Amino acid sequence: MKLTTTFARLALGSAIMLASLGSVQAQEDEVKIGFIVKKPEQAWFINEQKAATEVGEEFGFDVVRLGGEDGQEVLSAIDNLYAQGAQGFVICPPDVRLGPAIMNRANQYGMKVVTVDDQFVNTSGEPMEGVPHLGMSGTKIGRQVGEAIAAEMEVRGWNPEEVAALRITNNELPTAVERTDGATEALLAAGFPEDNIFDAPQQNSDTASAFSAASPVLSQYGDYEHWIIYALNEESVLGGVRATEQYGMAAEDVIGVGINGSGAAFAEFSRDNPTGFHGTVAVSSTMHGRQTTEDLYRWISEDQEPPANTETSGTLMTRNNWQEVRAALGL
Ligand code: GLA
Repeated sequence: MKLTTTFARLALGSAIMLASLGSVQAQEDEVKIGFIVKKPEQAWFINEQKAATEVGEEFGFDVVRLGGEDGQEVLSAIDNLYAQGAQGFVICPPDVRLGPAIMNRANQYGMKVVTVDDQFVNTSGEPMEGVPHLGMSGTKIGRQVGEAIAAEMEVRGWNPEEVAALRITNNELPTAVERTDGATEALLAAGFPEDNIFDAPQQNSDTASAFSAASPVLSQYGDYEHWIIYALNEESVLGGVRATEQYGMAAEDVIGVGINGSGAAFAEFSRDNPTGFHGTVAVSSTMHGRQTTEDLYRWISEDQEPPANTETSGTLMTRNNWQEVRAALGL
């Protein structure tokens, strides 16, 4: 009897051991990653995170979507992910200079990190090495913005000498500088006078901050009848366009061209009447979300390190072709 009990105990013991080994094994095999974005309410980032989740569903791993609107929030998001057993995360940081602090925390936890859209910089302001990145080719896409504006000015028969440019800048963010510099370069090459370009520095990368930056510039140079507007993204160009409307300018006197091709632009193109928002260079946020998520997954599960830097390109989207371009980019 005693013997049977001992055997039974032993058998039970090994069954428990086997079961717990099994669950450790399962946990090791289970991949969980985070996808942290600086502006979780912006259409670009909503779509990017949605695409990430879909990749997780297809491949069978978990994607935890989190917002990180400042350094503190990002660090708590990382702690939270670690507590949940995540092995890494994709991030678009709220400030690229947080790179070293974010990597410190991730390294403490042995988590792998991929950046999307905005690349970390080191303490000397250079792109941080060793963190794979995927983002748009800022200069090229900026040039497309400048070329699109120049072409539309020609269609409208504007004399460049009589046109003012509202350049909404965000000098803290390298990709933003590349984009507005690219646009400026293309405009100058098309014969736009440099003296007619006026800067409106924004504090953030959204519509509200662009609106606040644009208003004083418009009132200061109110003598110009025709305005062109460009910025790091379409949300900011929309802020500029809204400011021209508030100032009483007609849609036909304004040419704004943005970057992104997300819900903000679709809503604008869907209005009954055209506004000063002429177009946007659309980039696939779906592809950005999918690719970075898949790259991180393969890095974790197959030890295959992602490419150091992937640059993506864009397509001009206007009121006339936005639905085709949207479909082609899987947006
Ligand atoms: C930056 C901008 C976003 C979007 C992404 C795309 O993060 O703030 O609006 O343009 O780049 O790379």
